[in-house]
Amino acid sequence: GKTRHYTLDIKMHNVTRLCHTKSLVSVNGKFPGPKIIAREGDQLLIKVVNHVPNNISLHWHGIRQLRSGWADGPAYITQCPIQTGQSYVYNYTIVGQRGTLWYHAHISWLRATVYGPLIILPKHGVPYPFPKPHKEVPMVFGEWFNTDTEAIIRQATLSGGGPNVSDAYTINGLPGPLYNCSSKDTFRLRVKPGKTYLLRIINAALNDELFFSIANHTVTVVEADAIYVKPFETDTILIAPGQTTNVLLKTKPSYPSASFFMTARPYATGQGTFDNSTVAGILEYEQPKHAKTSIKNLKLFTPVLPALNDTNFATKFSNKLRSLNSKKFPANVPQKVDRKFFFTVGLGTNPCNHKNNQTCQGPTNTTMFAASISNISFTLPTKALLQSHYSGQSNGVYSPNFPWNPIVPFNYTGTPPNNTMVSTGTNLMVLRYNTSVELVMQDTSILGAESHPLHLHGFNFFVVGQGFGNFDPNKDPKNFNLVDPIERNTVGVPSGGWAAIRFLADNPGVWFMHCHLEVHTSWGLRMAWLVLDGDKPNQKLLPPPADLPKC
Ligand code: C2O
Repeated sequence: GKTRHYTLDIKMHNVTRLCHTKSLVSVNGKFPGPKIIAREGDQLLIKVVNHVPNNISLHWHGIRQLRSGWADGPAYITQCPIQTGQSYVYNYTIVGQRGTLWYHAHISWLRATVYGPLIILPKHGVPYPFPKPHKEVPMVFGEWFNTDTEAIIRQATLSGGGPNVSDAYTINGLPGPLYNCSSKDTFRLRVKPGKTYLLRIINAALNDELFFSIANHTVTVVEADAIYVKPFETDTILIAPGQTTNVLLKTKPSYPSASFFMTARPYATGQGTFDNSTVAGILEYEQPKHAKTSIKNLKLFTPVLPALNDTNFATKFSNKLRSLNSKKFPANVPQKVDRKFFFTVGLGTNPCNHKNNQTCQGPTNTTMFAASISNISFTLPTKALLQSHYSGQSNGVYSPNFPWNPIVPFNYTGTPPNNTMVSTGTNLMVLRYNTSVELVMQDTSILGAESHPLHLHGFNFFVVGQGFGNFDPNKDPKNFNLVDPIERNTVGVPSGGWAAIRFLADNPGVWFMHCHLEVHTSWGLRMAWLVLDGDKPNQKLLPPPADLPKC
């Protein structure tokens, strides 16, 4: 591989959407951020320079970071944030991965505006396991807020209530014509008839799982989270925050004399407040020379998306996702398990603390919203966990005692318990190098009901099982798929259900795991794994770089 250098300047930038102008934190004055391209085997040296008043850190979502945890990016987990006027070079090599991933800020809510595609091409001369596309197009879904997102989360944290929802969804930063004052900010995909396009779809939205469909067209799903899948055709895809999906779009064989809306809007099963608006882009065919109708006057078709709460579609769609599992791309599902864990994930409450004399706006006026894994709402430390571990100074920073099973056993999916209080802590689960892990995550559905897209840093995992209701340890494992389960880095734990994953802990370091709905992460639905060094020299975490930021 070769070495690629990038410089990302984090700076303020004025952006206008929906007739509201705001100064936002951007990468190189671009919103969304620029595309980063590399090939499998390349080394990336990405210098991030902080020119804004906020602290910043960047995460390369889905990159395995083998032995290079110092470059992973979550603030206070693997590094102290980069302070104003400082810089840090993220240095990592892409080993055994190719596909669509992305990068985003990993501190507070700055990822609302600081994100972009991270595209890894196969090694030179290595083809895709599908027909070579005519063109490749990144399509990044996001959320636009008219006001400052840092102010929104600050207010929500003080009041203990749910934060304001977004004002629009976006494709590549553009809300599209279904919103007021937004027609000129429309993503347009210009295509030729009879060709195949590879759409690299990324869900960078803060808080919403999205359906996406193109009118009068179907797509073929070929990759998810930078892992090739068994191709299947569908008219709609479902994608959770954090996830990426590559699809092939075959255009009509001849000029259709029409244009086609491409729309996305949420999948939401709960009663909570969410933005239920729709973003639209337009698929436009290049017109032949003597076209009769001008492109502006063409008929515009609209896709029919599943209902907001169409769990049936969601379940069918996720069941279709299978690893390609070919000779070249085998699914190396761990067949033996060394340690089994059972975690609950869900919402709960903290007592109201009346910070700044705020009246609390949690589920009751004496409580604040919280979220937890196994009833522990994870508190971010003030020093980075990885440094504390590496320097042997974990005292007062974290406790290496995350529970195997929840300490408070809830009746997960039945009537909510009277006591929804969570405990708080910074607890890590410690694993020996090369431990083969099976983890069942059970949604508690105590308050609200939403799927939780759980993201694990530093690994891909296999989703060996998924179901509704309470996980049954005697019955459900008999139906696990140990042959061709989907391999990914973010999985939706279904609302009122469970997901079982397996992974091999072959990457020493501290690895964050959290719900990729930003509001749930902020409320504490997060924890970290500490994977110890192995005995051999190539099984150890590399030493920290000299420019690693200090807290
Ligand atoms: Cu994409 Cu920890 O995040």
